[in-house]
Amino acid sequence: MKNCRIIDFKKIGNSDVGFLIALEGNREVPFNIKRIYYIYNVPKEIKRGFHTHKRLEQVLICMNGSVKIKVDDGNEKKIIELNDPSKGLYIGPGVWREMYDFNQNLVLLVLASEYYDESDYIRDYEEFMKYKNNKKNKSIKDVFIHDKAIVDSRSIGAGTKVWGFTHILPDAEIGENCNICEHVFIENDVKIGNNVTIKCGVYIWDGVFIEDDVFVGPCVTFINDIHPRSKMYPETFERTFIKKGSSLGANSTIMGGITIGSYSTIGAGSVVLKNVKNYEIVVGNPAKPIGYNCQCGAKLKKRNNIYKCKCGKSYKIIDSILKSIF
Ligand code: TYD
Repeated sequence: MKNCRIIDFKKIGNSDVGFLIALEGNREVPFNIKRIYYIYNVPKEIKRGFHTHKRLEQVLICMNGSVKIKVDDGNEKKIIELNDPSKGLYIGPGVWREMYDFNQNLVLLVLASEYYDESDYIRDYEEFMKYKNNKKNKSIKDVFIHDKAIVDSRSIGAGTKVWGFTHILPDAEIGENCNICEHVFIENDVKIGNNVTIKCGVYIWDGVFIEDDVFVGPCVTFINDIHPRSKMYPETFERTFIKKGSSLGANSTIMGGITIGSYSTIGAGSVVLKNVKNYEIVVGNPAKPIGYNCQCGAKLKKRNNIYKCKCGKSYKIIDSILKSIF
C-alpha cells in the first residue's frame, strides 16, 4: 500500500547481551521527528484511532506487547499486527487507521513529523472517503501537458510542464514549476518538489524522493531493488533521497537506499553507491569525492580552512559537515 509500510530497524547487539536500536530523523525514520507520544494501559475491548491525517507522517513502534492496526487508503485495506520493537509501521498522509486487540502490556510509541494539530485530522470515515475521491478527481490547473504525454496523476503543481512520450502514474506527486522532458517514466511512490528539472530518458521508480531545485540530467538511472530477480519482488523498495539543490550529471547511476546531499554534484557517468554529503562533488565508478561546490554550482577553493566561492559565499567544515558561514 502506498504511504504505509513496515520499516525494519537495524539491531545492534545479540541475544546474549541484548539489543539496541538507534533511530534518527530523516534516516531510519523518513522525516524530521517533531513529536513523540505513546499509548499504554489500553483495555483489550477498546478500539482507538478511527482517523486519518492530511499532512502528518508517523512511525508506530510497539515497544512491548502487541496491537492490531487496520490501515485503509481508500482503495485497499490491510491488517498489520505490531509486536516487535525492531519494526516500525510507517503511515503517511491520507491513510485511515483503526487500532484494536490491545494486549495489556502494550506500549505503543509514535514518532510524528508535526506538532499536534487537530485541524490536520479527519475523524469521520465518510468525510475521509470524500477527501480521497476529491484528490483523485482533482483537476490540474496551469500545468502544460503535451498531447503525446500520459499523465495519470492529479497532484501536479502550477507552472509544471510535461513533454511528449512521458508517462506519470496516478499516485506520483510533483510540485510547481518543474520541467519534465521527453521520454520520462514516473512510478507511483515518487515525490518531486518544486523547480525540479528532469531531462530526457529518466525513469523514476517507486521509492525515489526528489526535493526542490534538483537537476536530474539526461538518462540518469535510479535503482530501487538491490538484488533484482525476475518476478521476485522485495517486500519494500529501497528509498532514495535526492536533497534540495543537488545536480545529477548525465548518465549517472544512483544506487537505491542512499541520500544525495543538498547542493551536491554528481559527475556525468558516475556510479554512486554511498551517501553523498551536502555540497560534495563526486565522480567516477564507484563515485569518490573530489571537492566541494557552492550553492551556485562553482567549485570552492580552500584557503586557511575556509572554502571560498567566486560568488562571494564562504563555507567551513564544522563537525565534518561543510556549512555556509557568510
Ligand atoms: P487521538 O489522536 O484521537 O488518539 P487515538 O487515536 O489513540 O484515540 O487523541 C486522543 C486525545 O489526545 C485527543 O483529545 C487529542 C489528544 N492529543 C493531544 O493532545 N496531543 C497529541 O499529540 C495527540 C496524539 C493527541
